[in-house]
Amino acid sequence: MEIRTVADLEKELARPGEADIACLRRLPGDILILGAAGKMGPSLARLCRNAADAAGPPRRIVTVSRSVEPQPGIEAIRCDLLDRAAVAQLPDCPNILYLAGRKFGSSGSPELTWAMNTIVPAIVAERFARSRMVVFSTGNVYPFRPLNGGGSVETDQPAPVGEYAQSCLGRERVFEHFSRERGLRCLFYRLNYAVDLRYGVLVDIARRVYAGEPVDLAVPAFNAIWQRDANSYALRSLELCASPPVTLNITGAETLHVREVATWFAKRFGREVRFRGAEGDTALLSNASRAFKLLGAPEVGAQLLMELVAGWIKAGGASLDKPTHFEVADGRF
Ligand SMILES: NC(=O)c1ccc[n+]([C@@H]2O[C@H](COP(=O)([O-])OP(=O)(O)OC[C@H]3O[C@@H](n4cnc5c(N)ncnc54)[C@H](OP(=O)(O)O)[C@@H]3O)[C@@H](O)[C@H]2O)c1
Repeated sequence: MEIRTVADLEKELARPGEADIACLRRLPGDILILGAAGKMGPSLARLCRNAADAAGPPRRIVTVSRSVEPQPGIEAIRCDLLDRAAVAQLPDCPNILYLAGRKFGSSGSPELTWAMNTIVPAIVAERFARSRMVVFSTGNVYPFRPLNGGGSVETDQPAPVGEYAQSCLGRERVFEHFSRERGLRCLFYRLNYAVDLRYGVLVDIARRVYAGEPVDLAVPAFNAIWQRDANSYALRSLELCASPPVTLNITGAETLHVREVATWFAKRFGREVRFRGAEGDTALLSNASRAFKLLGAPEVGAQLLMELVAGWIKAGGASLDKPTHFEVADGRF
């Protein structure tokens, strides 16, 4: 597989697999995507559209955020989810993908992060208590782990570091409350670092190596997943929603070491790699074995993902990158 243009990339990210189509043959009803204008929402909406079309019966795919734009076959509703009255006007929907959140890496206004991550969940959970809802969360709710320990599993106690991560656990707890009290069927989709070639941890490292900039070793390891695989897991997680909530770690199978990854990109680009900072001995690492058991392994492994990123950067895609701030080790915004 080679991806060289944005059009190729968009097409691949929205390509439904057989399992996605089969899921929507079993699962009736429209799909509502809340927080659909960010990095993941647009391609996830198109994957849902394409899987729904292939599955058969007509259904609406509706996207919502403050700035969302319509796409072919996908409706868009502009709505501030902090506005309870506006949320009340959203259409009823049996299937919801909840992506809304305040960006990791955004600085200042911690109260807004808490409002987005804990008040919006209450408003949305009350409004859609009879729906099933995949709630995007993050591996940041876990504590840092030793590098060779295999990563956190869903039964581990959360211990989020810093206010961003704490507010993400708050988001889960608020949804859990409504799930237990009102029967909302939900699933906490604890994602670690999606990579779509325009952004993602691997892209950040590859860009630095390509530009001759030093690579930070403070967070020495990470997990990553191809965004198409992450989109597919999100769609198929709708079938697993339950009350009380289910939790799934979503990431790739491999623990990736920053030093090794950067050295591999340097060789691939024919460049020297430089490092900076003391190399840490813990990192945010998740173990997604449970998701693989329930939904199958990701289609794209780490080696192919790195090849895709290297090909993209060499083809000039680096200018489109959005940094993800994965190397922030202290959980600040
Ligand atoms: N991408 C990753 O690798 C990753 C990793 C771990 C967790 N996650 C989580 O997964 C989710 C989706 O990821 P992403 O990368 O697509 O996130 P993102 O780029 O930060 O997008 C967040 C979305 O929330 C919307 N939003 C924010 N405030 C809103 C409000 N008041 N009302 C309505 N919508 C609002 C934004 O759109 P508007 O600004 O137009 O409203 C945007 O569509 C996020 O919750 C993120 O924290 C992502």
